[in-house]
Amino acid sequence: MSYIRNNVEDMNGYIPGYQPEEEGWVKLNQNENPYPPSPRVLDAIRNELGSLKCYPETSSALVRKEAAKLYGIAPEQILVTNGSDEMLRILLESCVSPGDEVVAFYPSYTYYRTLAAMQGAYFRLIDFSDDWGLPEKLGVEDAKVVFLPNPNAPSGTLFSEGDIAKLCGIVLDGIVVVDEAYGDFAQVSAIQMLKDYPNLVVTRTFSKSYSLAGLRLGLGFASQELIRQFDKVRDFYDVDRLAQVGALAALQDQDYFRSNLQKVINTRSRLTKELSALGVEVIPSQANFVLAKFTNPTAKDVYQQLRERKILVRYFETPRLEDCLRISIGTDEETDKLISAIASILAD
Ligand SMILES: Cc1ncc(COP(=O)(O)O)c(C=O)c1O
Repeated sequence: MSYIRNNVEDMNGYIPGYQPEEEGWVKLNQNENPYPPSPRVLDAIRNELGSLKCYPETSSALVRKEAAKLYGIAPEQILVTNGSDEMLRILLESCVSPGDEVVAFYPSYTYYRTLAAMQGAYFRLIDFSDDWGLPEKLGVEDAKVVFLPNPNAPSGTLFSEGDIAKLCGIVLDGIVVVDEAYGDFAQVSAIQMLKDYPNLVVTRTFSKSYSLAGLRLGLGFASQELIRQFDKVRDFYDVDRLAQVGALAALQDQDYFRSNLQKVINTRSRLTKELSALGVEVIPSQANFVLAKFTNPTAKDVYQQLRERKILVRYFETPRLEDCLRISIGTDEETDKLISAIASILAD
């Protein structure tokens, strides 16, 4: 006898990247931003500390208003959540019943599988084509939810508006989720497509481009009707007071945001060039990480040797990725250390 639902007992929990407790690591394994958040975020959080005895405002109204201005969309089309992972969970809880089909492409973000399993859904993975595009034959007509990260993680590759439109057209009775966790680094968004596709949902996060992974903030964008439904299954105090004032300050400091973003994009070009110069194959990335291919020594060896030098990158021991490392973009100094470590590992 078990107290636990079968689908929960049977599922694997999500495995996040390793988080070392001690200092001194070059941490390039969770696609965090290497730069601190805007000083205005820190000021706003300090000023809010005196109000912690009161519940937060439940709808994050000021954040929604500011995001609406920034993205040119109505505040009623936005939900603020506890990380974009919460937004993903909310939309599955709202749209998927046990046995319904949930589709993701492979390889992409592995949490989609866990989320589908929580609902007791039938989860199907469809392989990307060899050049990381959508396959010719999609076969997603019956899906209740289809996930498409754009840019994709872990490849960093981008899908076109045409790809998204095609999916929305095929998945008539289901929702297409364009997960833009890394969208800022590609400077693209499907948010403006919402007016044409009622089954489109776009998710974004403050964890990457706004350097706020620790504050847990996400945004969901959809039609007003969908957002109204999603709002019912949200924990009503999911975004705490510090997160709300932090999010607002972050959105209001677009100068800081843009200059940070440009630094990451510049380092991404530099890392791609320098790895290529070492003979490492790198997929051109539109995100804040690159996927780099190693053959001799193997990716697993390089991963372990980097780890011995206190440099953490991400290794996935799964088909199509087992000869690759996903490397987050760090500061210039971290990139210097990474490049010289890889050069010495390859020369050994
Ligand atoms: C593709 C993708 N989507 C969503 C998330 C979740 O981000 P958040 O920190 O907003 O929950 C991540 C985090 O790494 C991600 O890689």
